[in-house]
Amino acid sequence: MEDRTINTSAPATKTKTTPETILKIEGGHQLSGEIRVSGAKNSALAIIAGTLLCSEECRLTNVPDLADIKRMGDVIASLGVAIKAESGSLDFDTRHLSTAEAPYELVSKLRASFFIIGPLLARMGEAKVPLPGGCAIGARPVDLHVRGLRAMGAEVLIEHGVVQATVKGNRRRLQGAKIYLDYPSVGATETLMMAATLAEGQTILENAAQEPEVVDLANFCRSMGATIIGDGSNKIVIQGCDRLHSTNYPIIPDRIEAGTFLVAGAITQSEFSVFPVVPDHLRPVIAKLESTGTKVIADAPDRLRLVPQGLRATDIETLPYPGFPTDMQAQFMALLTLCEGTSVVTETVFENRMHHVAEFSRMGAVIKLKGNNAIINGVPFLSGAPVMATDLRASAALVLAALAAEGTTIMRGVHHMDRGYDNLEGKFKALGAKIERLTATDI
Ligand code: EPZ
Repeated sequence: MEDRTINTSAPATKTKTTPETILKIEGGHQLSGEIRVSGAKNSALAIIAGTLLCSEECRLTNVPDLADIKRMGDVIASLGVAIKAESGSLDFDTRHLSTAEAPYELVSKLRASFFIIGPLLARMGEAKVPLPGGCAIGARPVDLHVRGLRAMGAEVLIEHGVVQATVKGNRRRLQGAKIYLDYPSVGATETLMMAATLAEGQTILENAAQEPEVVDLANFCRSMGATIIGDGSNKIVIQGCDRLHSTNYPIIPDRIEAGTFLVAGAITQSEFSVFPVVPDHLRPVIAKLESTGTKVIADAPDRLRLVPQGLRATDIETLPYPGFPTDMQAQFMALLTLCEGTSVVTETVFENRMHHVAEFSRMGAVIKLKGNNAIINGVPFLSGAPVMATDLRASAALVLAALAAEGTTIMRGVHHMDRGYDNLEGKFKALGAKIERLTATDI
């Protein structure tokens, strides 16, 4: 992405700061055409951790070009894995794993890198992984991951911010276990499912997460020879084996990116197509869009088209899949600020995922926040304003609000967006949006 420098008449005495990247968005333009969805970030991150299970070389295709994917690659490479990247594909050679200890300076940059603990334990009988910190949306504990690994025979110590796990016994091999997850955690389900593929005997995960990314990970493991059934339901049964062979695996399309684009169409009252998608993965988002009055038409098995027909208020409550996805909450709230009537948004998955409310209010939205409930009174229009993105999905939500707002919005915190969206502004530009990535010489 080329950055263009904008001139600001900064006073000469001001000390130079590192130039900050910003997005300048001119609202009020209709969008048209078609938009291509990248591979799923949350699938790719778990599957890259899963490559550690493979005793040979393996290839992933349709991998999105994201900062978080690069960070996950750095973590895997630090363990001795050779990675070759070429446009959208990643080749992994894990035959020469050299250490089971992941460096803090890499893990601390990406929470999802904690998912390596399951595959590392399964492959090497030990793992030393720094505790992932919390983030803007919540404390993000990993107690369910740890409890499950202990149930599979790992000894797990947490000292000085590092999780040290080892498997005792002559073959240092995890044992199959029956595990009930207190909460259908996506990460814990993925960690334990991966660990179980190479464990001795059968593992049963009950109250497991049912997200499409869990199913994609299970399909990836099966393509390497793993025996897994029940993924996509709340009970997953894994029969451990001795080793997993190579594979060439395509990542599914990103349902959250696709949902973001669908909401972009509704909020700008534009008609355009989004592909490739798996419509089933978007059922809750499509249902709620239709309850606002937006029609969503499948004009091909992997292609959806928006036909906006006014905007009516509706309520959403985020829940584990197949409920409404928490990763679409901020984006959908942007739309609800312009829906006629009163909408209520309830966030039940994360304890602190409402930072975008204050930013929407700066743009003229009328929202009352009570704990994890936002009561939104629709307004006839939003106004462009300087706003700050605080986390990945809030950044996308602010772009959507800015596309619909009257006037110009300057968004800071663009690095949050780059973590999880592959060239978002380029894709919107191709649909006719007036959006530019600039480097501010002085903020
Ligand atoms: C995954 O995070 C996704 N990230 C998140 O996407 C997504 O929001 C989340 O699942 C829910 O769908 C990736 O896949 C890389 P969880 P994860 O474990 O696995 C609590 C995005 O924007 N919990 O299902 O960390 C936890 O605190 C990101 O793309 C425990 O209490 O989510 C939270 O309240 C954000 N103990 C709830 O469960 C644990 O051991 C859901 O977390 C684990 C989780």
